[in-house]
Amino acid sequence: MKKMNVAIDGPGGAGKSSISRVIAEELNFIHVDTGAMYRAIGLYAIRNQCLDADQITEKLPEISVTLKFIGGVQRVMLCDEDVTDYIRSPEVSMAASKVSAVPAVRAHLLDLQKKIATENDIIMDGRDIGSVVLPDADLKIFLTASAEERASRRYLELKEKPDCPSYEEVLADIRQRDENDMNRAIAPLCQAEDAIFVDSSEMGFHEVVAYIESLIREKLNEL
Ligand code: DC
Repeated sequence: MKKMNVAIDGPGGAGKSSISRVIAEELNFIHVDTGAMYRAIGLYAIRNQCLDADQITEKLPEISVTLKFIGGVQRVMLCDEDVTDYIRSPEVSMAASKVSAVPAVRAHLLDLQKKIATENDIIMDGRDIGSVVLPDADLKIFLTASAEERASRRYLELKEKPDCPSYEEVLADIRQRDENDMNRAIAPLCQAEDAIFVDSSEMGFHEVVAYIESLIREKLNEL
């Protein structure tokens, strides 16, 4: 039976992953966070000092990124090591943004992303899911919020951690990543023509969850 595929794209910090995770659990779908796959390659590049496009391309044959789903929750494996807990730092965010602009890196992850979608009911979030990875997705959402709102949400998450950057640093990082993600030559962050635009700047977390979930349920009823 054909699987239900939901694509959620948008800039960093818009809440795509946390929102998708909650909805996937409610609907018994699998949530695929493609940003975590780029983050795993970013982590590899930091560890092995190969952030440059040519260097990371050369290393790709020895970089395996796979996903495990434990109780529907995604774990990211980098060469069989579970790196899920090491990929959320600002340093890895920036490295992920950098390596994700390299065409060979994108090609390296594309087949796996497509394969997971054919085998499962999924909510997949990223930057190019509706436009490149799953152009035939049953439902496409473009979820965004202002850079200031995204920075304050991210800052609140990081605030209690040691070496927390200032709000201004978080905002500068967000702006820099937006710039990288929107202007790269390959699969840039963009809203697919048939995606539903959701601006969550003035919405609470549960409000966004309820709204997107209602869109998915509507679609499920049509299928
Ligand atoms: O969603 P995130 O912040 O975890 O993503 C980390 C980086 O990975 C982001 O700066 C851009 C890149 N990315 C991408 O290019 N394509 C995707 N489908 C997902 C993420």
